[in-house]
Amino acid sequence: MTQPLTTLRHRHLLGLATYSPEEIALILSTAREFREVLRRQIPRVPSLRGLTVVNLFFEPSTRTRISFELAEKRLSADTVNFASSGSSVSKGETLKDTARNIEAMKVDIAVIRHRSPGAAYFLTQCIDAVVLNAGDGAHEHPTQALLDLLTISDISPRFDGLNVSIIGDIMHSRVARSNLYSLTKMGVNVTLCGPKTMIPFGISQFGCRVTHRLEEALEGCDVAMALRIQLERQDTSLYPSLREYHNQFGIKPEHLDRYPSLRIMHPGPVNRGVELASEVVDHERAVILDQVTNGVATRMACLYLLAGGQNPASLAEIG
Ligand code: CP
Repeated sequence: MTQPLTTLRHRHLLGLATYSPEEIALILSTAREFREVLRRQIPRVPSLRGLTVVNLFFEPSTRTRISFELAEKRLSADTVNFASSGSSVSKGETLKDTARNIEAMKVDIAVIRHRSPGAAYFLTQCIDAVVLNAGDGAHEHPTQALLDLLTISDISPRFDGLNVSIIGDIMHSRVARSNLYSLTKMGVNVTLCGPKTMIPFGISQFGCRVTHRLEEALEGCDVAMALRIQLERQDTSLYPSLREYHNQFGIKPEHLDRYPSLRIMHPGPVNRGVELASEVVDHERAVILDQVTNGVATRMACLYLLAGGQNPASLAEIG
């Protein structure tokens, strides 16, 4: 039997494609320890004291940006926030020059969200800091998939044999890609569902089932993860209308009635009445806000381990 890891093998978190099941399990067990820290009266530990983290957000974000900031503060790091609007990017400065100038101010860890796939990897080639990918184009969103796994483990502690369906615009979704890697590595049966225009050809090679019928995706499913229909991409006519999309692929109260143990997840932001009926978003079997809560502990775990932290057993000492 393989021994549980005590440290990560990777220096950066660019995506989950190269992370092993043991590394993913280490992040999850560390996140569970940090959840306990967050329940304390003073939810703060000194793990990253003396380290500086810069949050480079070149794209809009609510959940990821705020939870990274909170995670860094809970770990006692010094944080600097950068948003491309109002910066010298609007004067034409490149990502490389922006990053190198920020690093010249002595930064240890950089968190980056960018519209271009590969931007996080590119950053590792420009600066010495540890890099965490907070979403790069349609490539990966690893911390989202990790917080999703933590949320799924609260529903079912055993991943093996669990059935999770990811429904929506798989083609453009970095969340779907990272989840596909992490869920299949942990033994979850994954079904991808959506219109043919939103599912990449040949994706079943990654060990998932593909269907274009919502009922087929929901039958026997433990957790349905609905993805945001990216309204900003609808000019490419991936689907005739949002109303038609909702009729065919939107999860509605009748589905919750028909499948009484089905749980609903969504990475946010939700388009109410498109991928999920508004009543489904607010239903007690929707764990969308639990996902957000789990985001802080998960990002604390990633920052802590990438900064060289050891396995959770040592948390009692540092806390
Ligand atoms: N899930 C997610 O990435 O949300 P934000 O775009 O608000 O960060």
